[in-house]
Amino acid sequence: MKSDYWLIAHAYASCERLLYRDALQHCRTAFVKALPKRVLSVGEGDGRFSEALLNAEPKTQLQVIEPAKAMRREALLRNPNLEFVTSKSAAPCDATVLNFVLDLFSPEEAVAFLDQLPESPVLIVGDFFPDEIHGRIERTLARLLVWIMYRFFNLTTGLKTRRLPPTRDILTTQGWTLRQEEVQWGGFIRAQWWER
Ligand SMILES: C[S@@+](CC[C@H](N)C(=O)[O-])C[C@H]1O[C@@H](n2cnc3c(N)ncnc32)[C@H](O)[C@@H]1O
Repeated sequence: MKSDYWLIAHAYASCERLLYRDALQHCRTAFVKALPKRVLSVGEGDGRFSEALLNAEPKTQLQVIEPAKAMRREALLRNPNLEFVTSKSAAPCDATVLNFVLDLFSPEEAVAFLDQLPESPVLIVGDFFPDEIHGRIERTLARLLVWIMYRFFNLTTGLKTRRLPPTRDILTTQGWTLRQEEVQWGGFIRAQWWER
């Protein structure tokens, strides 16, 4: 799954808006006002989740994991005081946020990735769920869009993964319970609040 974002980090938000307008940012930030005090954002990307969270709740104790240097630079431009940590150095948190991160992994990698995260009673997941759309044509179009997105990331970041992992099944198997879900685009884009 090794990939890097130097080619697209700066244009990431603009590319996203071309395709999805505000839908992904809406998904990322669906729960910012309800999050507990200590939050760990994993795979933060270019800092738009952190920016929205700290604007909405400035007292949040936010830590961020982001391995890609180019993404860290973009995130710091938006939030100069961001605290970057690793899974090992992170302080205990009340909620972990995974926005469009589990889609980087094969099913086996996703399980291993979740297992190495610091303990947290709440998990926020924002991602694409094309298989959960009602309507055959809509589902087919969404799958095509996901296929195109993977080819784009395969080419620009070196990502090797080519399909979405079964996120809902993996989390349920790991003992997480879905408490709340915000759905857009007929179920294609979902923000989920899980607890364990
Ligand atoms: C598709 S981007 C999503 C970024 C951001 N969360 C968003 O909502 O746009 C995936 C991000 O996860 C980061 N990432 C990749 N591997 C990771 C890992 N093992 N742990 C944490 N983050 C990782 C990438 O560097 C990238 O910034």
